[in-house]
Amino acid sequence: MQITLIVNGEKRKVETTPDTRLLDLIREDLGLTGAKEGCGQGECGACTVIMDGELVASCLVLALQADGAEILTIEGLSSGDDLHPIQESFVEAGAIQCGFCTPGMVLASKKLLDENQTPTEKEIRRGLSGNLCRCTGYEKIIEAVKLSAEKMYGERVKANE
Ligand code: FES
Ligand code: FES
Repeated sequence: MQITLIVNGEKRKVETTPDTRLLDLIREDLGLTGAKEGCGQGECGACTVIMDGELVASCLVLALQADGAEILTIEGLSSGDDLHPIQESFVEAGAIQCGFCTPGMVLASKKLLDENQTPTEKEIRRGLSGNLCRCTGYEKIIEAVKLSAEKMYGERVKANE
């Protein structure tokens, strides 16, 4: 069966099967390997993509459920060689170690900052609560989101509120 999706702004028609997960379709059929498989159970956030404006764990979504949907993956965030300000901030803040969680963290940060230009630290922690990182201890990731807000909106978030 064939489904049609808009992926990173581009219309894609893909042959799939009823039991194919969105994560596999994105990685294997579309060749977009930024989304990662960590737990495969909706708990780690490594497979996060934005589907019709909402964060989803693509390991828990069937490809068929995404028929007609608009999907943003980490590959759609940069424009050409120019990184998105959130990606720049993660690099500058040293928020990337092994990088396995990073695509999901960056997309969760984008969703948060699209809705809240000046998130408090508590709001940042809540916004990233579906994404686990085994490397960084989270502090540099929080700092990266604050830096992102500053770059995107010119505002410094109020710390520790
Ligand atoms: S791989 Fe999907 S949430 Fe962990
Ligand atoms: S940087 Fe390694 S899991 Fe987050």
